[in-house]
Amino acid sequence: MRYFNLIVLSLVAFGMAPKSFANPKTFLWGAALSAHQTEGAFEGGENGDWWEYEHSHENGVSPIAGGDTADFAVDHWHRYSEDYEIAQKLGLNTLRTSVAWEKIEPSPHVFSSQVMAHYRAQFQRMRELGIRPMITLHHFTHPRWFHQRGGWLSPESPELFLEYAQYVVKNLGDLCDLWITFNEPMLFVIMGYLKGEIPPGETGLDSAYEAAYQIARAHRKVAAMIHEVQGASPKAKGEDGVLRGVGLANALPIYDPYNPRNLRDVEAAVKVADLSNWAFLKGIQAGRLKFDLPEGIPGVHGFDRVLPAEDLPPWPTGPAMDWIGVNYYTRYLIRYNEQSLLKVEWVTPPGPHGDNGWAIYPAGLERILRESAARFGLPLVVTENGLADAQDSRRLGFLKEHLRFMDSAILGSNLGGPLDVRGYYHWSLMDNFEWLHGYQYRFGLVEVQYEKGLRRVPRPSAEGYRAEIHGRK
Ligand code: FCB
Repeated sequence: MRYFNLIVLSLVAFGMAPKSFANPKTFLWGAALSAHQTEGAFEGGENGDWWEYEHSHENGVSPIAGGDTADFAVDHWHRYSEDYEIAQKLGLNTLRTSVAWEKIEPSPHVFSSQVMAHYRAQFQRMRELGIRPMITLHHFTHPRWFHQRGGWLSPESPELFLEYAQYVVKNLGDLCDLWITFNEPMLFVIMGYLKGEIPPGETGLDSAYEAAYQIARAHRKVAAMIHEVQGASPKAKGEDGVLRGVGLANALPIYDPYNPRNLRDVEAAVKVADLSNWAFLKGIQAGRLKFDLPEGIPGVHGFDRVLPAEDLPPWPTGPAMDWIGVNYYTRYLIRYNEQSLLKVEWVTPPGPHGDNGWAIYPAGLERILRESAARFGLPLVVTENGLADAQDSRRLGFLKEHLRFMDSAILGSNLGGPLDVRGYYHWSLMDNFEWLHGYQYRFGLVEVQYEKGLRRVPRPSAEGYRAEIHGRK
Protein backbone atom coordinates (compact mmCIF):
# COMPACT_ATOMS: atom_id res chain seq x y z
CA MET A 1 0.00 0.00 0.00
CA ARG A 2 2.75 2.38 0.96
CA TYR A 3 4.56 1.58 -2.27
CA PHE A 4 1.37 2.30 -4.27
CA ASN A 5 0.94 5.62 -2.49
CA LEU A 6 4.48 6.54 -3.34
CA ILE A 7 3.95 5.92 -7.03
CA VAL A 8 0.71 7.86 -6.99
CA LEU A 9 2.32 10.73 -5.13
CA SER A 10 5.20 10.96 -7.53
CA LEU A 11 2.79 10.95 -10.47
CA VAL A 12 0.89 13.80 -8.87
CA ALA A 13 4.12 15.63 -8.13
CA PHE A 14 4.97 15.49 -11.83
CA GLY A 15 1.54 16.85 -12.71
CA MET A 16 0.18 13.55 -14.03
CA ALA A 17 -2.75 12.84 -11.79
CA PRO A 18 -3.69 9.20 -12.41
CA LYS A 19 -7.11 8.32 -13.78
CA SER A 20 -8.16 6.94 -10.42
CA PHE A 21 -8.46 10.55 -9.23
CA ALA A 22 -11.80 10.60 -7.42
CA ASN A 23 -13.80 9.42 -10.35
CA PRO A 24 -12.77 12.30 -12.62
CA LYS A 25 -16.03 12.27 -14.59
CA THR A 26 -18.23 13.01 -11.61
CA PHE A 27 -15.88 15.08 -9.47
CA LEU A 28 -17.52 18.41 -8.63
CA TRP A 29 -15.29 21.29 -9.71
CA GLY A 30 -16.88 24.50 -8.60
CA ALA A 31 -16.91 27.85 -6.93
CA ALA A 32 -19.09 29.08 -4.09
CA LEU A 33 -21.25 32.17 -3.67
CA SER A 34 -24.11 33.23 -1.47
CA ALA A 35 -27.28 35.18 -2.19
CA HIS A 36 -26.85 38.13 0.15
CA GLN A 37 -23.20 38.62 -0.71
CA THR A 38 -23.82 38.86 -4.45
CA GLU A 39 -27.42 39.54 -5.47
CA GLY A 40 -28.25 43.02 -4.22
CA ALA A 41 -31.44 43.83 -2.33
CA PHE A 42 -33.64 43.66 -5.46
CA GLU A 43 -37.13 42.21 -4.99
CA GLY A 44 -37.33 42.01 -1.24
CA GLY A 45 -33.87 42.23 0.29
CA GLU A 46 -35.15 44.97 2.61
CA ASN A 47 -37.19 42.28 4.40
CA GLY A 48 -33.96 40.76 5.68
CA ASP A 49 -32.15 41.01 9.00
CA TRP A 50 -28.84 41.92 7.42
CA TRP A 51 -30.46 44.72 5.40
CA GLU A 52 -31.76 46.17 8.65
CA TYR A 53 -28.38 45.70 10.33
CA GLU A 54 -26.44 47.34 7.50
CA HIS A 55 -28.77 50.35 7.63
CA SER A 56 -28.65 50.76 11.40
CA HIS A 57 -26.17 53.37 12.55
CA GLU A 58 -25.70 53.39 16.28
CA ASN A 59 -24.35 56.85 17.24
CA GLY A 60 -23.86 57.48 13.54
CA VAL A 61 -21.54 54.49 13.15
CA SER A 62 -22.31 51.67 10.74
CA PRO A 63 -21.61 48.14 11.96
CA ILE A 64 -20.09 47.35 8.54
CA ALA A 65 -16.55 48.41 7.58
CA GLY A 66 -16.58 51.54 5.46
CA GLY A 67 -20.35 51.93 6.01
CA ASP A 68 -20.86 49.48 3.12
CA THR A 69 -24.20 47.80 2.44
CA ALA A 70 -25.16 44.86 0.22
CA ASP A 71 -27.91 46.95 -1.46
CA PHE A 72 -26.33 46.42 -4.86
CA ALA A 73 -23.65 43.90 -3.90
CA VAL A 74 -22.31 42.75 -7.29
CA ASP A 75 -25.77 42.79 -8.92
CA HIS A 76 -25.74 39.03 -9.46
CA TRP A 77 -29.57 39.30 -9.47
CA HIS A 78 -29.38 40.80 -12.96
CA ARG A 79 -26.03 39.46 -14.10
CA TYR A 80 -26.23 35.82 -13.15
CA SER A 81 -26.12 34.69 -16.75
CA GLU A 82 -22.87 36.55 -17.40
CA ASP A 83 -21.41 35.11 -14.19
CA TYR A 84 -22.36 31.54 -15.07
CA GLU A 85 -20.89 31.93 -18.55
CA ILE A 86 -17.60 32.94 -16.94
CA ALA A 87 -17.80 29.88 -14.65
CA GLN A 88 -18.40 27.65 -17.64
CA LYS A 89 -15.36 29.07 -19.46
CA LEU A 90 -13.29 28.23 -16.39
CA GLY A 91 -14.32 24.59 -16.76
CA LEU A 92 -16.53 24.53 -13.66
CA ASN A 93 -19.23 21.86 -13.68
CA THR A 94 -20.98 23.09 -10.52
CA LEU A 95 -21.67 26.26 -8.54
CA ARG A 96 -22.75 26.55 -4.96
CA THR A 97 -25.00 29.44 -4.04
CA SER A 98 -27.87 30.17 -1.68
CA VAL A 99 -31.39 31.46 -2.04
CA ALA A 100 -32.61 34.32 0.13
CA TRP A 101 -35.27 33.29 2.65
CA GLU A 102 -36.23 36.95 3.22
CA LYS A 103 -37.05 37.40 -0.48
CA ILE A 104 -38.84 34.07 -0.87
CA GLU A 105 -41.00 34.39 2.27
CA PRO A 106 -41.32 38.13 2.95
CA SER A 107 -43.97 37.60 5.63
CA PRO A 108 -44.90 34.46 7.58
CA HIS A 109 -46.42 31.77 5.33
CA VAL A 110 -46.53 34.18 2.37
CA PHE A 111 -44.31 33.10 -0.49
CA SER A 112 -43.30 35.22 -3.46
CA SER A 113 -43.97 33.42 -6.73
CA GLN A 114 -42.21 36.26 -8.52
CA VAL A 115 -38.99 35.70 -6.60
CA MET A 116 -39.27 31.96 -7.13
CA ALA A 117 -39.74 32.51 -10.88
CA HIS A 118 -36.51 34.49 -10.81
CA TYR A 119 -34.62 31.70 -9.04
CA ARG A 120 -36.05 29.12 -11.44
CA ALA A 121 -34.76 31.12 -14.41
CA GLN A 122 -31.41 31.49 -12.67
CA PHE A 123 -30.93 27.78 -11.98
CA GLN A 124 -32.30 26.84 -15.40
CA ARG A 125 -29.65 29.03 -16.98
CA MET A 126 -27.03 27.37 -14.82
CA ARG A 127 -28.11 23.95 -16.01
CA GLU A 128 -28.26 25.04 -19.66
CA LEU A 129 -24.58 25.83 -19.34
CA GLY A 130 -23.87 22.35 -17.99
CA ILE A 131 -23.35 23.57 -14.41
CA ARG A 132 -24.92 21.60 -11.54
CA PRO A 133 -26.33 23.78 -8.79
CA MET A 134 -25.68 23.11 -5.13
CA ILE A 135 -28.21 25.19 -3.20
CA THR A 136 -27.72 26.43 0.35
CA LEU A 137 -31.03 27.11 2.08
CA HIS A 138 -29.57 29.22 4.89
CA HIS A 139 -26.44 31.32 4.45
CA PHE A 140 -26.60 33.62 7.50
CA THR A 141 -29.64 35.77 6.54
CA HIS A 142 -33.28 35.60 7.70
CA PRO A 143 -36.52 37.43 7.14
CA ARG A 144 -36.97 40.08 9.82
CA TRP A 145 -40.32 38.61 10.85
CA PHE A 146 -38.53 35.41 11.88
CA HIS A 147 -36.64 37.25 14.63
CA GLN A 148 -39.80 39.06 15.71
CA ARG A 149 -41.21 35.62 16.44
CA GLY A 150 -38.22 34.65 18.56
CA GLY A 151 -35.81 33.47 15.86
CA TRP A 152 -33.86 30.32 16.67
CA LEU A 153 -34.76 30.62 20.34
CA SER A 154 -38.33 29.72 19.58
CA PRO A 155 -39.39 26.06 19.58
CA GLU A 156 -41.51 26.79 16.50
CA SER A 157 -38.41 27.82 14.49
CA PRO A 158 -37.62 24.35 13.03
CA GLU A 159 -41.18 24.12 11.65
CA LEU A 160 -40.97 27.63 10.19
CA PHE A 161 -37.70 26.80 8.47
CA LEU A 162 -39.11 23.51 7.22
CA GLU A 163 -42.06 25.30 5.66
CA TYR A 164 -39.72 27.60 3.74
CA ALA A 165 -37.46 24.71 2.72
CA GLN A 166 -40.47 22.72 1.49
CA TYR A 167 -41.49 25.60 -0.75
CA VAL A 168 -37.96 25.83 -2.18
CA VAL A 169 -37.57 22.11 -2.78
CA LYS A 170 -41.04 21.86 -4.32
CA ASN A 171 -40.19 24.64 -6.75
CA LEU A 172 -36.53 23.97 -7.50
CA GLY A 173 -36.31 20.22 -6.89
CA ASP A 174 -36.38 19.40 -10.60
CA LEU A 175 -33.31 21.59 -11.08
CA CYS A 176 -31.29 20.65 -8.00
CA ASP A 177 -30.46 17.49 -6.09
CA LEU A 178 -27.53 18.79 -4.04
CA TRP A 179 -28.64 20.67 -0.93
CA ILE A 180 -26.99 22.38 1.99
CA THR A 181 -29.32 23.20 4.85
CA PHE A 182 -27.06 25.55 6.84
CA ASN A 183 -23.82 27.32 6.07
CA GLU A 184 -21.43 27.31 9.03
CA PRO A 185 -24.14 26.81 11.67
CA MET A 186 -21.74 26.97 14.62
CA LEU A 187 -20.02 30.11 13.37
CA PHE A 188 -23.48 31.62 12.95
CA VAL A 189 -24.51 30.55 16.47
CA ILE A 190 -21.32 31.88 18.03
CA MET A 191 -21.50 35.24 16.27
CA GLY A 192 -25.28 35.70 16.27
CA TYR A 193 -26.32 34.11 19.58
CA LEU A 194 -23.23 33.97 21.82
CA LYS A 195 -21.27 37.13 21.03
CA GLY A 196 -24.03 39.20 19.43
CA GLU A 197 -21.76 40.41 16.63
CA ILE A 198 -24.19 39.72 13.77
CA PRO A 199 -27.99 39.54 13.56
CA PRO A 200 -29.95 38.80 15.64
CA GLY A 201 -27.34 40.10 18.11
CA GLU A 202 -28.19 37.81 21.02
CA THR A 203 -25.59 37.16 23.70
CA GLY A 204 -25.01 34.46 26.28
CA LEU A 205 -24.29 30.79 26.57
CA ASP A 206 -27.91 29.76 27.06
CA SER A 207 -29.14 31.50 23.93
CA ALA A 208 -26.27 29.95 21.95
CA TYR A 209 -27.15 26.45 23.18
CA GLU A 210 -30.83 26.94 22.48
CA ALA A 211 -30.19 28.27 18.96
CA ALA A 212 -27.79 25.40 18.18
CA TYR A 213 -30.45 22.95 19.38
CA GLN A 214 -33.25 24.42 17.27
CA ILE A 215 -30.98 24.64 14.22
CA ALA A 216 -29.97 20.99 14.66
CA ARG A 217 -33.69 20.10 14.77
CA ALA A 218 -34.36 22.21 11.68
CA HIS A 219 -31.56 20.47 9.81
CA ARG A 220 -32.89 17.02 10.65
CA LYS A 221 -36.44 17.93 9.64
CA VAL A 222 -35.31 19.36 6.33
CA ALA A 223 -33.00 16.40 5.61
CA ALA A 224 -35.96 14.06 6.17
CA MET A 225 -38.16 16.16 3.89
CA ILE A 226 -35.58 16.23 1.08
CA HIS A 227 -35.06 12.49 1.33
CA GLU A 228 -38.79 11.94 1.18
CA VAL A 229 -39.12 14.07 -1.94
CA GLN A 230 -35.93 13.13 -3.75
CA GLY A 231 -35.06 9.66 -2.50
CA ALA A 232 -32.92 8.58 0.39
CA SER A 233 -29.65 6.78 0.76
CA PRO A 234 -28.05 4.83 -0.94
CA LYS A 235 -29.16 6.78 -4.03
CA ALA A 236 -28.48 10.02 -2.27
CA LYS A 237 -25.04 8.85 -1.21
CA GLY A 238 -24.19 8.53 -4.87
CA GLU A 239 -22.95 5.02 -5.17
CA ASP A 240 -23.05 5.54 -8.94
CA GLY A 241 -20.36 8.16 -8.35
CA VAL A 242 -22.76 11.08 -8.59
CA LEU A 243 -23.18 12.84 -5.30
CA ARG A 244 -26.70 13.89 -4.31
CA GLY A 245 -28.64 14.61 -1.17
CA VAL A 246 -28.14 16.78 1.86
CA GLY A 247 -25.18 18.13 3.78
CA LEU A 248 -24.14 21.13 5.85
CA ALA A 249 -21.22 23.44 5.06
CA ASN A 250 -19.19 23.58 8.25
CA ALA A 251 -16.51 26.06 9.26
CA LEU A 252 -13.70 23.64 10.10
CA PRO A 253 -10.42 25.39 10.86
CA ILE A 254 -7.47 23.48 12.25
CA TYR A 255 -6.96 24.08 15.97
CA ASP A 256 -3.45 23.17 17.11
CA PRO A 257 -1.97 23.67 20.58
CA TYR A 258 0.12 26.83 20.91
CA ASN A 259 2.80 24.81 22.60
CA PRO A 260 2.48 21.12 21.74
CA ARG A 261 4.58 20.23 24.80
CA ASN A 262 2.25 22.04 27.18
CA LEU A 263 -0.49 19.65 28.27
CA ARG A 264 -2.91 22.47 29.08
CA ASP A 265 -2.55 23.92 25.57
CA VAL A 266 -3.04 20.46 24.10
CA GLU A 267 -6.21 19.90 26.12
CA ALA A 268 -7.49 23.39 25.30
CA ALA A 269 -7.02 22.83 21.55
CA VAL A 270 -8.91 19.53 21.70
CA LYS A 271 -11.73 21.19 23.63
CA VAL A 272 -12.05 24.14 21.24
CA ALA A 273 -12.06 21.81 18.21
CA ASP A 274 -14.69 19.64 19.84
CA LEU A 275 -16.96 22.57 20.71
CA SER A 276 -16.68 24.55 17.52
CA ASN A 277 -16.00 21.89 14.85
CA TRP A 278 -17.46 18.58 15.95
CA ALA A 279 -20.08 18.68 18.72
CA PHE A 280 -22.87 20.02 16.53
CA LEU A 281 -22.26 17.51 13.72
CA LYS A 282 -21.95 14.66 16.19
CA GLY A 283 -25.26 15.74 17.71
CA ILE A 284 -27.04 15.81 14.36
CA GLN A 285 -25.78 12.34 13.52
CA ALA A 286 -26.34 10.82 16.97
CA GLY A 287 -29.68 12.48 17.72
CA ARG A 288 -28.39 14.04 20.94
CA LEU A 289 -26.73 17.44 21.16
CA LYS A 290 -24.01 17.68 23.74
CA PHE A 291 -21.57 20.50 24.49
CA ASP A 292 -19.05 19.68 27.21
CA LEU A 293 -17.57 22.72 28.87
CA PRO A 294 -14.89 22.62 31.53
CA GLU A 295 -16.33 22.29 35.06
CA GLY A 296 -15.82 24.82 37.78
CA ILE A 297 -15.83 28.06 35.78
CA PRO A 298 -18.38 30.49 37.25
CA GLY A 299 -21.27 31.16 34.85
CA VAL A 300 -20.23 28.38 32.51
CA HIS A 301 -22.03 25.09 32.10
CA GLY A 302 -22.48 22.38 29.50
CA PHE A 303 -25.50 21.27 27.49
CA ASP A 304 -26.98 17.85 26.80
CA ARG A 305 -30.39 17.34 25.19
CA VAL A 306 -31.87 14.62 23.00
CA LEU A 307 -33.09 15.68 19.54
CA PRO A 308 -36.65 14.45 18.97
CA ALA A 309 -36.56 11.18 17.04
CA GLU A 310 -39.75 12.12 15.17
CA ASP A 311 -37.89 14.94 13.38
CA LEU A 312 -35.96 12.33 11.40
CA PRO A 313 -37.54 8.90 11.17
CA PRO A 314 -34.68 6.46 10.47
CA TRP A 315 -36.04 4.99 7.25
CA PRO A 316 -36.78 5.90 4.54
CA THR A 317 -36.01 9.51 5.48
CA GLY A 318 -32.62 9.14 7.16
CA PRO A 319 -29.70 9.52 7.37
CA ALA A 320 -29.21 12.94 8.96
CA MET A 321 -26.47 13.80 6.46
CA ASP A 322 -25.42 12.24 3.16
CA TRP A 323 -22.06 13.96 3.09
CA ILE A 324 -20.04 16.49 5.04
CA GLY A 325 -19.29 19.92 3.59
CA VAL A 326 -15.91 21.24 4.71
CA ASN A 327 -15.26 25.00 4.61
CA TYR A 328 -11.53 25.19 5.18
CA TYR A 329 -9.53 28.41 5.25
CA THR A 330 -7.05 28.55 8.09
CA ARG A 331 -5.42 27.37 11.26
CA TYR A 332 -5.46 28.77 14.81
CA LEU A 333 -3.17 28.06 17.72
CA ILE A 334 -4.93 27.57 21.02
CA ARG A 335 -3.30 28.63 24.26
CA TYR A 336 -4.49 27.97 27.79
CA ASN A 337 -5.15 31.32 29.43
CA GLU A 338 -6.17 31.57 33.07
CA GLN A 339 -7.50 35.14 32.57
CA SER A 340 -10.04 34.53 29.82
CA LEU A 341 -13.60 33.37 30.54
CA LEU A 342 -13.27 30.00 28.88
CA LYS A 343 -9.57 29.78 29.81
CA VAL A 344 -8.50 29.68 26.19
CA GLU A 345 -7.00 32.15 23.78
CA TRP A 346 -6.93 32.06 19.97
CA VAL A 347 -3.56 32.94 18.41
CA THR A 348 -2.92 33.48 14.70
CA PRO A 349 0.22 31.58 13.73
CA PRO A 350 3.06 33.60 12.24
CA GLY A 351 3.86 33.24 8.55
CA PRO A 352 1.99 33.87 5.29
CA HIS A 353 -1.59 35.12 5.57
CA GLY A 354 -4.39 36.59 3.50
CA ASP A 355 -5.25 40.30 3.35
CA ASN A 356 -7.71 39.70 6.20
CA GLY A 357 -5.07 38.15 8.45
CA TRP A 358 -6.08 34.49 8.13
CA ALA A 359 -3.00 32.26 8.25
CA ILE A 360 -2.32 30.16 5.15
CA TYR A 361 -1.87 26.50 6.02
CA PRO A 362 -2.50 24.20 3.03
CA ALA A 363 -1.53 20.95 4.82
CA GLY A 364 -4.53 21.58 7.05
CA LEU A 365 -6.90 20.72 4.23
CA GLU A 366 -5.73 17.12 4.12
CA ARG A 367 -5.74 16.94 7.93
CA ILE A 368 -9.28 18.26 8.29
CA LEU A 369 -10.58 16.00 5.50
CA ARG A 370 -9.00 12.99 7.23
CA GLU A 371 -10.44 13.95 10.59
CA SER A 372 -13.93 14.52 9.11
CA ALA A 373 -13.82 11.15 7.34
CA ALA A 374 -12.63 9.34 10.45
CA ARG A 375 -15.35 10.88 12.62
CA PHE A 376 -18.36 10.52 10.34
CA GLY A 377 -17.54 7.92 7.66
CA LEU A 378 -19.34 9.96 5.01
CA PRO A 379 -18.35 11.30 1.59
CA LEU A 380 -16.77 14.73 1.80
CA VAL A 381 -17.01 17.91 -0.25
CA VAL A 382 -14.78 20.94 0.13
CA THR A 383 -17.62 23.46 0.11
CA GLU A 384 -15.37 26.55 0.58
CA ASN A 385 -11.66 27.31 0.39
CA GLY A 386 -10.11 30.58 -0.70
CA LEU A 387 -7.97 33.61 0.03
CA ALA A 388 -8.46 37.36 0.49
CA ASP A 389 -5.88 38.61 -2.00
CA ALA A 390 -6.67 41.87 -3.76
CA GLN A 391 -3.44 41.77 -5.76
CA ASP A 392 -4.02 38.16 -6.85
CA SER A 393 -0.33 37.63 -6.17
CA ARG A 394 -0.79 34.59 -3.89
CA ARG A 395 -4.17 33.14 -4.83
CA LEU A 396 -2.93 30.69 -7.45
CA GLY A 397 -0.15 29.38 -5.21
CA PHE A 398 -2.71 29.01 -2.40
CA LEU A 399 -5.10 27.16 -4.67
CA LYS A 400 -2.47 24.80 -6.11
CA GLU A 401 -1.10 23.92 -2.69
CA HIS A 402 -4.55 23.22 -1.27
CA LEU A 403 -5.45 21.08 -4.29
CA ARG A 404 -2.18 19.17 -3.84
CA PHE A 405 -3.20 18.31 -0.27
CA MET A 406 -6.70 17.42 -1.42
CA ASP A 407 -5.07 15.07 -3.97
CA SER A 408 -3.17 13.46 -1.09
CA ALA A 409 -6.44 12.91 0.75
CA ILE A 410 -8.08 11.42 -2.32
CA LEU A 411 -5.19 9.25 -3.39
CA GLY A 412 -3.77 8.34 -0.01
CA SER A 413 -0.57 9.65 1.54
CA ASN A 414 1.70 8.95 4.49
CA LEU A 415 -1.17 10.25 6.65
CA GLY A 416 -3.56 7.48 5.58
CA GLY A 417 -5.46 5.70 2.82
CA PRO A 418 -7.57 7.19 0.03
CA LEU A 419 -10.66 9.19 1.08
CA ASP A 420 -14.01 9.65 -0.62
CA VAL A 421 -13.83 13.36 -1.54
CA ARG A 422 -16.42 14.31 -4.13
CA GLY A 423 -15.84 17.96 -4.90
CA TYR A 424 -14.02 21.25 -4.43
CA TYR A 425 -15.68 24.69 -4.43
CA HIS A 426 -13.39 27.71 -4.41
CA TRP A 427 -14.60 30.74 -2.46
CA SER A 428 -15.40 32.69 -4.46
CA LEU A 429 -16.26 32.93 -8.13
CA MET A 430 -16.07 36.70 -7.89
CA ASP A 431 -15.48 39.46 -5.35
CA ASN A 432 -18.49 40.18 -3.17
CA PHE A 433 -19.87 41.63 0.06
CA GLU A 434 -17.79 40.16 2.87
CA TRP A 435 -20.28 40.57 5.74
CA LEU A 436 -18.89 42.80 8.53
CA HIS A 437 -15.89 43.65 6.33
CA GLY A 438 -17.92 45.08 3.46
CA TYR A 439 -16.15 45.13 0.11
CA GLN A 440 -12.61 45.60 1.35
CA TYR A 441 -11.48 41.98 0.99
CA ARG A 442 -11.26 40.38 -2.42
CA PHE A 443 -11.84 36.64 -2.52
CA GLY A 444 -12.78 36.42 -6.21
CA LEU A 445 -11.24 34.38 -8.99
CA VAL A 446 -12.93 37.13 -10.97
CA GLU A 447 -12.35 40.75 -10.06
CA VAL A 448 -15.39 43.00 -9.76
CA GLN A 449 -14.52 46.57 -10.68
CA TYR A 450 -16.82 48.50 -8.36
CA GLU A 451 -15.80 51.83 -9.86
CA LYS A 452 -16.44 50.69 -13.40
CA GLY A 453 -20.07 49.60 -13.33
CA LEU A 454 -19.30 46.25 -11.65
CA ARG A 455 -17.32 45.02 -14.63
CA ARG A 456 -16.17 41.39 -14.26
CA VAL A 457 -12.51 40.75 -15.06
CA PRO A 458 -11.13 37.24 -14.52
CA ARG A 459 -7.89 37.34 -12.56
CA PRO A 460 -4.83 35.32 -13.62
CA SER A 461 -5.63 32.83 -10.83
CA ALA A 462 -8.91 32.01 -12.60
CA GLU A 463 -6.99 30.75 -15.60
CA GLY A 464 -4.70 28.87 -13.22
CA TYR A 465 -7.69 27.14 -11.61
CA ARG A 466 -8.96 26.19 -15.08
CA ALA A 467 -5.60 24.58 -15.85
CA GLU A 468 -5.58 22.69 -12.52
CA ILE A 469 -9.04 21.26 -13.24
CA HIS A 470 -8.10 20.38 -16.78
CA GLY A 471 -4.97 18.58 -15.57
CA ARG A 472 -7.04 16.30 -13.35
CA LYS A 473 -9.64 15.26 -15.92
C1 FCB B 1 -17.08 31.97 5.22
C2 FCB B 1 -18.49 32.30 4.77
C3 FCB B 1 -18.56 32.97 3.42
C4 FCB B 1 -17.43 33.95 3.22
C5 FCB B 1 -16.10 33.32 3.55
C6 FCB B 1 -14.92 34.22 3.30
O1 FCB B 1 -17.05 31.93 6.61
O2 FCB B 1 -19.26 31.12 4.69
O3 FCB B 1 -19.82 33.53 3.27
O4 FCB B 1 -17.67 35.09 3.95
O5 FCB B 1 -16.11 32.90 4.89
